[in-house]
Amino acid sequence: MAADSTTKLCLVSVVLLLGLVSSLQGVSADNLTKQKLNSKILQEEIVKKVNEHPNAGWKAALNDRFSNATVAEFKRLLGVKPTPKKLLLGVPVVSHDQSLKLPKSFDARTAWPQCTSIGNILDQGHCGSCWAFGAVESLSDRFCIQFGMNITLSVNDLLACCGFRCGDGCDGGYPIAAWQYFSYSGVVTEECDPYFDQTGCSHPGCEPGYPTPKCMRKCVSGNQLWGESKHYSVSTYTVKSDPQDIMAEIYKNGPVEVSFTVYEDFAHYKSGVYKHITGSNIGGHAVKLIGWGTTDDGEDYWLLANQWNRSWGDDGYFMIRRGTNECGIEDEPVGGLPSSKNVFKVITGSDEISVASV
Ligand SMILES: *[C@@H]1O[C@H](CO)[C@@H](O)[C@H](O)[C@H]1NC(C)=O
Ligand SMILES: *[C@@H]1O[C@H](CO)[C@@H](O)[C@H](O)[C@H]1NC(C)=O
Ligand SMILES: *[C@@H]1O[C@H](CO)[C@@H](O)[C@H](O)[C@H]1NC(C)=O
Ligand SMILES: *[C@@H]1O[C@H](CO)[C@@H](O)[C@H](O)[C@H]1NC(C)=O
Repeated sequence: MAADSTTKLCLVSVVLLLGLVSSLQGVSADNLTKQKLNSKILQEEIVKKVNEHPNAGWKAALNDRFSNATVAEFKRLLGVKPTPKKLLLGVPVVSHDQSLKLPKSFDARTAWPQCTSIGNILDQGHCGSCWAFGAVESLSDRFCIQFGMNITLSVNDLLACCGFRCGDGCDGGYPIAAWQYFSYSGVVTEECDPYFDQTGCSHPGCEPGYPTPKCMRKCVSGNQLWGESKHYSVSTYTVKSDPQDIMAEIYKNGPVEVSFTVYEDFAHYKSGVYKHITGSNIGGHAVKLIGWGTTDDGEDYWLLANQWNRSWGDDGYFMIRRGTNECGIEDEPVGGLPSSKNVFKVITGSDEISVASV
C-alpha cells in the first residue's frame, strides 16, 4: 500500500516536471515546409528588403559563411532548446545595485585588453553547439578577468560529456545546464580536448554527418591529465531581465551568455544595429554578450560575438537593439564566477607550494 502511493506520487511529479517547460526561449520556431528547408537560406530578396527599408538601422549582405547553405543546414546551428523549468529551480536570479554608475558605452575587449580571448571569433562548424560556445567562451574570459591568465576552455568537453543533462549535443542544448556543468564537473582546456580533430567526419566540422562527438575523458596530448585540466565555476545564475542589471553584470564580471530568436534576415546581417525586419522564425541561438553603446542616431545597442567565423556579419560580431528585448535577447542571460580550484596548484604533503601559471 505504502509503496503503491509513493509510486503514484513519483509519477505525478514526473508528469508535473515534464509539463513545466519554460517559455523564456520557448517561442517555438515556425513550421517550415520541406521545400522551404531545402531552399537556400540567403536570398537577394531579403537583402533588398532590408537595405531599402528606411528604418532598418542595419545592412544586409550575402554572407560568405552561408553562401551554399540550405535553410535546414542553417537551422541546425540554432541549438538552443527551450529550458525545462526544473533546471532553473533554485538557480539564483542576480540583480545589481541600481546606483552603480555605468558608462554610456562599454566594450569588454578594451576594458580588459590583456584578455585576448574576449575578442576571439570562433566557428561552431556544422553542429548545433551554440549553447556550449556561448558558455565556454564567457567562462574563459571570466577566468582571465578574475585571475589574469590566458585560457581557452573546451567546448568539446561540454558538448560530448555533459550528456542529456545539457540536452542533445549537436542537436541543441540548454545554456543554464552548461553553466551547471562547470560547477559540478568542471571543464578541461581546449588544448586537452579540442573541438576540431583529424578523425575524418566524426567531428563537428564535417558534412553531412556531424554527430555529437564521443566523450573520451582523456587529453589528446599524452602529458596532460584530464582531472588536472578541469577548471570549475563557483556559482551559476541567471541575470535579471533588465538592461541595467545585464550591463552591470558585464561591467563587473565580464561577458555573459545570452539566447535569442533567429529569423531568416539575421543570416544576412552585415553591419549596424540589428532588429527583426523580415522572414520566418528559424530557431533559438546562443552567443556571447560583450558590451553596449548608442549610435550617432541615438539607437541603443548590445555588442555581441557570434561563433560563425569572421566571414559572417561585422567581422564575426553583431549589434542588436538594446532596451526593447529584441528577439528575446534580454530574456535570460546566464553566467557564473570562476573558481581558483586547479588554477593555483598547492602541492600538499610537502613543504613545496608552487603557484602554477596556466
Ligand atoms: C507546428 O506544428 C506543431 C504540430 O503540428 C504544432 O503543435 C505547433 O503549434 C506548430 N507551431 C507553429 C509555430 O505554428
Ligand atoms: C555549392 O553548391 C553547388 C550546387 O549545389 C555545388 O556544386 C558546389 O560544389 C557547392 N560549393 C561549395 C563551396 O560547397
Ligand atoms: C574560419 O574559417 C576558415 C576558412 O574556412 C578556417 O580556416 C578557420 O579555421 C575558421 N576559424 C575557426 C576559429 O574555426
Ligand atoms: C595573453 O596573451 C596575449 C598575446 O599572447 C598577451 O599580450 C597578454 O598579455 C596575455 N594576457 C595575460 C593575462 O597573460
